[in-house]
Amino acid sequence: MRPAPGELPAPREPGRYAVALVCLGNICRSPMADVVLTRRVDDAGLAARVSVASAGTAGWHTGKPMDSRAAATLLAADHDPSAHRARQVDPHWLDQHDLVLAMDEQNLADLGGRSERVHLFRDHDPVGTGGEVPDPYYGGDQGFEEVLAMVERTSAALVSALQRATGLP
Ligand code: 4NP
Repeated sequence: MRPAPGELPAPREPGRYAVALVCLGNICRSPMADVVLTRRVDDAGLAARVSVASAGTAGWHTGKPMDSRAAATLLAADHDPSAHRARQVDPHWLDQHDLVLAMDEQNLADLGGRSERVHLFRDHDPVGTGGEVPDPYYGGDQGFEEVLAMVERTSAALVSALQRATGLP
């Protein structure tokens, strides 16, 4: 069942929260979401309580920096993409995070499907709840702009939900 927007599973450890973001290659969508959500968590004063990580279901790009178009889109919006290095989803991830957010339906299926702790990222998008973050890899720059807009507004909604889930006002 799809979660209600803004409703997150209870943390495994009260007052802390670990979020994992998953796409296919971990060079475009989930790294963009990682950079933006990490920044918003920090801005909200939640950095000591909330961790954010990202990975890809495929290992093709392991160790590589972000796709240059994803990085340029982030830089133009005053975000820093430079620290990212791609990695593949670890089988233990599902046990090690309070919430795993898949970018599209295929990523969700590859993680074993929706569950209490595994949702679509856009289940928490205040606009177009329950949709996919479309893969921009084979398209033009416009696709990366769309991903950034989805990621920005969904990250804002997630930070509000994370404040509630970690017990901060
Ligand atoms: P991502 O995009 O899943 O958003 O990182 C892709 C990156 C690479 C490939 C496909 C999608 N690829 O086929 O190499």
